[in-house]
Amino acid sequence: MEGTQYQQRLSSRKVTPTRALSDIAADAAAGLLSRPRFMPPKYFYDARGSRLFDAICDTPEYYPTRTEDALLEQHARVILEQTRPAHIIEFGSGTSRKTRRLLGACDSGLSYWPFDVCEAMLHETGHRLVQEYDWLDVNVLVGDYLAGLDDLPQLDGACLYLFLGGTIGNFNPRQARDFLVELRSLMKPGDSLLLGADRLKDSAVLHAAYNDADGITAEFNLNLLRVLNRELDADFEPRHFRHRALFDGDRQRIEMYLESRRRQSVRIGALDACLELDAGERILTEISRKFSRRGLESLLRETGFAVRAHYQPDNGWYSLLLAGPDGLS
Ligand code: SAH
Ligand code: TRP
Repeated sequence: MEGTQYQQRLSSRKVTPTRALSDIAADAAAGLLSRPRFMPPKYFYDARGSRLFDAICDTPEYYPTRTEDALLEQHARVILEQTRPAHIIEFGSGTSRKTRRLLGACDSGLSYWPFDVCEAMLHETGHRLVQEYDWLDVNVLVGDYLAGLDDLPQLDGACLYLFLGGTIGNFNPRQARDFLVELRSLMKPGDSLLLGADRLKDSAVLHAAYNDADGITAEFNLNLLRVLNRELDADFEPRHFRHRALFDGDRQRIEMYLESRRRQSVRIGALDACLELDAGERILTEISRKFSRRGLESLLRETGFAVRAHYQPDNGWYSLLLAGPDGLS
């Protein structure tokens, strides 16, 4: 009986891409078979990848999660008073661990819409949340937030959109702008955006955050090769690759690579092709851009938002920005 009650507050649907979406085979053909070699980061997040990411968040070196969590804990009440949401829609929600700071400060009349590419993690998290919060409706949205937002549900009442974890930094500058403009265009008067972004800081701190001593970040990066083996009938040997994460000061970003430890040839069955790699050759798997306080405020302003609050810790390591659609009241 109780199981049925939970089910009634939990729903799931797929978000239809607005734009034609390439599949993993097309992305691998475009990204791996010519130089510079790269793969889109969304393929990290199969069930194992999502669990590894969650473990990264618990490493002592990875300060962004703890820092953002503390800011949310500190400011949740004020944020909720200012935004009074009927719906919280979250992009790249993962385990929704920090979102609990906001949910915990509410007690009724709220639906939560976590939107993520990892279906396994969404369902696991959805089940947990309806059990933890006996008043909460959870509607999980499965899809790719870079493929367009047209199919997001049109919701009555104030919406608070969340984009946390510094994930905006995983977009290149054009993707970030396009995404924010698109999000802005679907916002109604009274809707808000809460954006979490990582800041520029001492490069040793940044370097450590993406090179934890226990090697969990390395394992997460290498997990991409397992995904490729499974999905594309490939024979990548993870032992023959090394995790590399470097801070590029000019471009103000961490770059994550898988580096070939030797000259090797990797068969990709589904593409009927072989990937020839030199010793030391790299595949770019992720960028993580780091921002200045002013840069973040300009980015929001230039994409049609008015910044209502900008929270940061004393050391200035992280930003949490609350914004509304500019020009709408
Ligand atoms: N918000 C969480 C998780 C951040 S990790 C936190 O702050 O800890 C990034 C999340 O975005 C993962 O859960 C991943 O599955 C999801 N994701 C990555 N690319 C995506 C895409 N293109 N579309 C939808 N979700 C994506
Ligand atoms: N949004 C996270 C970030 O940029 C994603 C991330 C953290 C990540 N550690 C990683 C991505 C390691 C790839 C590899 O901080």
